[in-house]
Amino acid sequence: MNGVTVTLQKGGVGKTTVAINLAERFAAAGNDVLLVDVDPQGSATDGVGCNDAYTTDTYLKHVLDEDDPTTPTDVIRTVCGPNQFDLVPSNRKLQRVSHELYEADNGEAAFYRHIVAPLESTYDWVVFDAPPTIGPVSNAAVVATRQVVVPMQLSKPSADALVRTVTNQLFALNGRLSESDPVEILAIVPNRVKGDNEEKHVLNALEDSQFESYLPSFARTTAYESPGPGPGIRERVAFRRSYREGVPLAAYDSSADMLKRFAALAAMIEDEARESI
Ligand SMILES: Nc1ncnc2c1ncn2[C@@H]1O[C@H](COP(=O)(O)OP(=O)(O)O)[C@@H](O)[C@H]1O
Ligand SMILES: [Mg+2]
Repeated sequence: MNGVTVTLQKGGVGKTTVAINLAERFAAAGNDVLLVDVDPQGSATDGVGCNDAYTTDTYLKHVLDEDDPTTPTDVIRTVCGPNQFDLVPSNRKLQRVSHELYEADNGEAAFYRHIVAPLESTYDWVVFDAPPTIGPVSNAAVVATRQVVVPMQLSKPSADALVRTVTNQLFALNGRLSESDPVEILAIVPNRVKGDNEEKHVLNALEDSQFESYLPSFARTTAYESPGPGPGIRERVAFRRSYREGVPLAAYDSSADMLKRFAALAAMIEDEARESI
């Protein structure tokens, strides 16, 4: 199995959108995929039409509890569609998990031990949708997958959040993890790009920084010169509509132009990934 966590210490940048549509594109490429929603807000759960799972009595907390016989399979839902994949849903009580992971001896390893390891031979890919705050839940997701994708907007607040996430989360975790199995960035994904000059400025700065190599080819400044929509995942109302309908973008509109970019992102990640789990 291979895994990736979608993380950035900022809300509204498209973590959930990237997690859902990346999971769907991995499935479209023939993989068995598990999406794990560990954000207590439950946007991914909602965004794939499983909001009823958000209020069930049995949920992820019971899977993580050493003394509880609940297994991941007991909570997993299937997201039906042409490219179906599975979901570990979030729950309205999921905030409790954060507290319990914090109190536990090796809470950072909990998602690996109780979700990922038991399902290692069941799935090709596991995708974690992380909350916008760095803390025990987000860290446990990154530790479980060792690989991250970072969506961002081409704005100063997002660029600041990228530096914060790398410094306070990824470097900090690497200081505690074994050197042979560090956390790696697989891609940085400019999202909700509208095409103004301020975005161009931020993208130029990214290309001149240590983060340059993580930008997918469709998200580079060269895309300003070539025909087509311009760099990055563009701002498209179809993303919000598909979310409202509770389906991935491909199920909402199979001709949406950004699907190709998500397929390219999935392919780039498959190339970069090492069998991390
Ligand atoms: N490329 C895009 N174009 C238009 N709307 C988008 C795009 N990406 C995300 N959104 C919308 O922006 C909002 C925040 O996105 P979301 O994925 O929930 O971010 P996060 O998980 O980082 O908080 C949602 O309403 C989502 O539908
Ligand atoms: Mg989210």
